[in-house]
Amino acid sequence: LDKKSEYVVGVSQCSDDLWRETVNGEILREASFFQNMQVRIKTVKDDTQQQIKDIESFIDSGVDLLVVSPNESTAMTPVIQKAYTSGIPVILLDRKIDTDDYTAYVGADNYQLAYELGLYVSDVLKEKGNVVIMRGWKGSTADAERYKGFVDAIGKYPNIKIIAEKRGDFLKNVAEQQMEEVFKNHESIDLVFAMNDPMALGVHNAAMRYSGKSPFIVGIDALPGEGGGIESIQKGLIDASFIYPTGGDKVIDIANRILNKESFDKENILYTAVVDKSNVRVIQLQTNQIFEHQYKFDRMNTLLDKSLLQYSNQRTLFYISLIA
Ligand code: FRU
Repeated sequence: LDKKSEYVVGVSQCSDDLWRETVNGEILREASFFQNMQVRIKTVKDDTQQQIKDIESFIDSGVDLLVVSPNESTAMTPVIQKAYTSGIPVILLDRKIDTDDYTAYVGADNYQLAYELGLYVSDVLKEKGNVVIMRGWKGSTADAERYKGFVDAIGKYPNIKIIAEKRGDFLKNVAEQQMEEVFKNHESIDLVFAMNDPMALGVHNAAMRYSGKSPFIVGIDALPGEGGGIESIQKGLIDASFIYPTGGDKVIDIANRILNKESFDKENILYTAVVDKSNVRVIQLQTNQIFEHQYKFDRMNTLLDKSLLQYSNQRTLFYISLIA
């Protein structure tokens, strides 16, 4: 890559929800520090064919770098390989593809996260009980790796039984419907592992409607803010969640390094931690503070944009008055 005065970074998101919104916000905020970086974001709603088209159009428009969260790994591998082999650096975000044809990965280790979650579950259940798994989008590496990690951890405890597995597609409403079926067919459910917090909320709703009481529910994401997992735990709607770090700022840091030919790591694994009623208050206080800083930063950016605009308008008027 030759150094350019402006770089365009194309971001292709597989879904449209609070987690993606949070990442996109971080990406845009971080990119605003780099005057020579422009970010374009395209989002699909879990539609693999449309995401492939989005990436094709990013390739055709000549983006300098691609950030992709692939909806499904196998179906999306060829188009990502095409971008990569044509010389466009590719950063995979949170989900992976079937090959090593990418420049860098930023996100959690989903296997490890779910393994730790499994150990937490065995602790909660005192190594004995009936568990239901609400899985995510079929074909995504997040779903496959979370499944394997959880099952491997739980497998060490013969008295913990997985009595049902359903697919909620990472969506609240789908999980809610699926869980109604589970409640009809199973009397004793001690704990539900939902592969993200929106599905965990769906499980909670189904439980309340079915019997007015809920099994222990563990989700993933633990997002701050309205409608996020932290709030759901604080309100007692779900019991625990594992932080699925968003890392949008890290994505831009790596993108900037790649574009400027600086050193970077191919695998950038972000860490997780459990949030439950034992620490939710502290976590909420801290994330509120971060929100306040972000709000101030965004306000400052807007004010700066405004005064720069005013400045350039004044300059234009000055030049017009010179010509006239
Ligand atoms: C958001 C999301 C998260 C989940 C992740 C898995 O689109 O569904 O809730 O943790 O994707 O890739």
